[in-house]
Amino acid sequence: MQAFEYRNNQLWCEGLILSDVAQRFGTPLYVYSKQSIVDHCRWIEKAFGSIDHLSCYAVKANANAEIVRIIACESLGADVGSKGELQLALRAGFLPEKITFSGVGKRDDEIEFALENNISAFNVESEQELHVISHIATRLGKTARILLRVNFDIPSKTHPYITTGQKHNKFGVECSQAKRILLQATTCSGIEVHGIHSHLGSQITDRETFVRAAHAVVNFVNELRSERDNIPIREINFGGGYGVQYHDYITHPLLPQDDHHGETGLTTVSLLEAVLPILSHLKCKIVIQPGRSVVAHAGVLLTKVLYKKRTTEKTFVIVDAGMNDLIRPSLYLSYHQIVPLHVSNRQHEVVDVVGPLCESSDFFALDRMMPVVERGEHLAVMCTGAYGYVLSSNYNGRPRPTEVLVDGNHYEVITERESIHHV
Ligand code: LLP
Repeated sequence: MQAFEYRNNQLWCEGLILSDVAQRFGTPLYVYSKQSIVDHCRWIEKAFGSIDHLSCYAVKANANAEIVRIIACESLGADVGSKGELQLALRAGFLPEKITFSGVGKRDDEIEFALENNISAFNVESEQELHVISHIATRLGKTARILLRVNFDIPSKTHPYITTGQKHNKFGVECSQAKRILLQATTCSGIEVHGIHSHLGSQITDRETFVRAAHAVVNFVNELRSERDNIPIREINFGGGYGVQYHDYITHPLLPQDDHHGETGLTTVSLLEAVLPILSHLKCKIVIQPGRSVVAHAGVLLTKVLYKKRTTEKTFVIVDAGMNDLIRPSLYLSYHQIVPLHVSNRQHEVVDVVGPLCESSDFFALDRMMPVVERGEHLAVMCTGAYGYVLSSNYNGRPRPTEVLVDGNHYEVITERESIHHV
């Protein structure tokens, strides 16, 4: 059974009809499938077979405490980007020895908190950060295990705002400086060098990009291990960024078909299968930090059509969710499939699906072929489990929406809708 599928022309999440859930809780509303999250964790784990590894879920993708707890129960680790995320991960039950800390701007108090909690490793982003960690660890009488984030300058075909592995990006240290910084790290007090880290960006759907990065990592590690440098490398963190299918995710004979954009058949497993044989030559522990690929498919954003408006140029479908609830289309021109909760035999038309906020960037779809929908009807914005609610805001005086978790025939409110007093 798919987590989300049409049965009798109604869209279901596991054992529940989504229009019933929308009626019960009102819209806008995020609904998640527990089964989908569990499945994605298990598929990723299975891809590693017997390879020594650790999959650290990137908490930033969806930081709902209940969702993070489900992932902790699947025995994954966590990658955190702040003290707040670290606290959340610890409370959710992740073992400290399975927690990594990434980010270009770790504050001193965050480093101290992570050391006190004996996390697995810091992904270090600069020479100066290395010295700060060394200093704090020494003062606390702790040892910081570190991996140096290396920027291999590998372009990836994704939105420029979410590429991280190119020279002009703020992330990591250049390859030409990395060896010197690692050599220095081996002599720093309170520091134990474990390896290198590479994270190319997010929503990368092209295998070749990952394969190129894997070869760059292998060549570099071989150089570090050479007789001349002799830097012991026992761990490779290959980051996250594994792209997911957004186009044509849900299908029905009465729905217009999306262009596939080469995403069909794209899975994290297929991307991992392309790189693991290359990386495993190094006989290192392999760490990855997937975020989106664990949770994107688990969530939908339900919204209601408030108005329709036709102009000489456009037909606008104005819905009750806005860019404050889901900012991905406005920020990265991201594509999310939008489907009615109830399908029927009706005409299709080209529309802009827009929110109620006072910005022209407040849209979910532009010039999109959709079944004709009417005021009062519910729609699902698909694949919004990652970077959805976490990026929401109170902009335009709007309370954040409810989040509901579905498990079989049961639902649980995992975040109450904010009241007007929050805004
Ligand atoms: N590791 C590091 C160091 C990261 O910065 C990120 C994401 C991840 C892992 C997880 O990447 P993922 O597997 O989720 O692609 N808000 C954007 C995505 C920002 C990604 C930030 N870093 C979006 O909605 O597309």
